[in-house]
Amino acid sequence: MLYPEHVIEEVREKSDIVSIISEYTTLTKKGSSYTGLCPFHNEKSPSFSVSEEKQLYYCFGCGAGGNVITFVMQKENMTFVEALKYLAEREHIKLDKEYLSEEEMAKNHKRLQLLEILKESAKFFYFALRDESHKDVLEYLTERGLLMETIKQFGLGYSPSAYTSLYKYLSQKGYSDELLLESGLILKSQNQGMMYDRFAGRVIYPIFDASKKVIAFGGRVMDGSQPKYLNSPENILFNKSNTLYGLHIAKNTKSDYFILVEGYMDVIAMHQAGFDQTVASLGTAFTPLHAKILKRYTKQVVVLYDSDNAGKNATLRAIPILRGAGLKVKVLQLQGGKDPDEYLKQHTKEEVEDLIKQAPSDIWFKVKYIESGHDMTNPEERVKFFQETALMLSESGSSIEQSIYIDEICKEYNMDVEVFKAEMNQHYKKVSHSKAQIEEKMPNHVKNVLNNEVLFLATLYHYPQIGKRAAEHLTPNMFAGKLLQDLAGAVFEALKTGVDIDMNYFTAKYPDAVDQNIISHVIIFKDKRYEESLVLQKMVAENIKRINKEYLERSLKTTTDPNELQNLLFQKKELDKLYIDFING
Ligand code: GTP
Ligand code: MN
Repeated sequence: MLYPEHVIEEVREKSDIVSIISEYTTLTKKGSSYTGLCPFHNEKSPSFSVSEEKQLYYCFGCGAGGNVITFVMQKENMTFVEALKYLAEREHIKLDKEYLSEEEMAKNHKRLQLLEILKESAKFFYFALRDESHKDVLEYLTERGLLMETIKQFGLGYSPSAYTSLYKYLSQKGYSDELLLESGLILKSQNQGMMYDRFAGRVIYPIFDASKKVIAFGGRVMDGSQPKYLNSPENILFNKSNTLYGLHIAKNTKSDYFILVEGYMDVIAMHQAGFDQTVASLGTAFTPLHAKILKRYTKQVVVLYDSDNAGKNATLRAIPILRGAGLKVKVLQLQGGKDPDEYLKQHTKEEVEDLIKQAPSDIWFKVKYIESGHDMTNPEERVKFFQETALMLSESGSSIEQSIYIDEICKEYNMDVEVFKAEMNQHYKKVSHSKAQIEEKMPNHVKNVLNNEVLFLATLYHYPQIGKRAAEHLTPNMFAGKLLQDLAGAVFEALKTGVDIDMNYFTAKYPDAVDQNIISHVIIFKDKRYEESLVLQKMVAENIKRINKEYLERSLKTTTDPNELQNLLFQKKELDKLYIDFING
């Protein structure tokens, strides 16, 4: 953590959440909190609530929630530290370097030096590309259809094939060998210890972070040799799993959706054609972190990977990751196994735009994918198609989406709706019933963050009488993950002692916006359905049983001590009794 807890606490306490949020939406006081139209989604009647006392906000409509820092992060697209600085400035709180430990200062210094080296190198490559002696490289790029303007916009360059040109250039500027090795641009030969340029003889694609700083390079060969691309190794500047190529431009797009492609050249060609909302994960797997970053900038992503088998499989892997971040997903497959770069050589921007408009949703893409694996004229194959489709649909989407797709699929493939639903129901039975019920009313992106445990904790906190009883049958370590365990501990403590949850602790320890959303949910969201005490009692009892059971099963898998094993098995047997005891008080 860059800043100590007390600094974050000061910023959060001095920042008036009501007045800051009032800059984005009109708030009116209602009881102990303020309400207004949610600034995170479109609505006509107010479901957004701000608690001045707890310094939290929460939307009962869309589930957005957090504290003043995450609010600024989300509305202004800032990182935690940026938001902290922004708020500190408003409140005239000084955030000095003094807060950094020596180790952090050294790391910061190293980071700055490396950034400088990369910037110098980018310039070096850029000018080398324009050198008369490397005319052939520029020709290679223009022959691939790139305009000079595009080459400039993406800062493309060339690393001369003499193996030490960059090394000499940087050494002369005074950078130590050690630092140059750390930059990833220079390598040391195994046997003779000679220093040489990693990217020698390659076309250079600088990789920028969102704030337009060069943090790494990709280098492509100009002939058919292998490997086709080389990337900088990961270091303190460059982390593949949170870097998206093209994001530094795409983040300013006016488009309300993003396009995700596979390669460097695809990004560049798409931008040149006018699709300034295109990004790529750098030939590596698309990660949940990538998805989370995209979610900061857009609500919808069109996946436009190669239409070969590898591309299809990569698309199938990316879909749940994008959905998991709460993004709407469409899939575009270009005909003829081409990648977007090649496709754009024969087609106009308008044609691609039309294809994007008509592109199927992720669910339709999956249906078609399943269909492609079966000969639909063969009855047995048709049966398999419907079974696989029912299973897929039972695992995807909200219940509203499911109901719409059931109708559409049955219409398209001539299937009886009731029969198809019955097939889907077989799969539902395996899913916990209460979970499905609780989640039914919730928007999709909230569901992804708020699992059973979060909803359960919120209910215990807001119905303290039963909460107190429930806490006697649970321990924090039965919950999944550090945050939930911490929250459970705090909720149980609050129920037992009446001392309220320490918000400062949770703000400082879990600055992440997703975590803050979970925290604000537990603290603000009171589910009115549980005012009916029988419903509440049943839900709590079921969850106590389920959580205990899951915990025991996890423990059983890892325990090697025979006594402990015996004990766990005994406890497992007692679970039904616990359930009955709880119901009967
Ligand atoms: P072009 O052949 O220049 O059109 O490349 P492309 O952008 O179409 O790349 P391709 O579809 O072949 O691969 C997609 C992405 O995977 C590339 O942009 C690279 O990021 C990455 N990639 C491809 N080949 C290699 C390789 O040999 N090594 C590494 N590290 N990455 C690669
Ligand atoms: Mn290509």
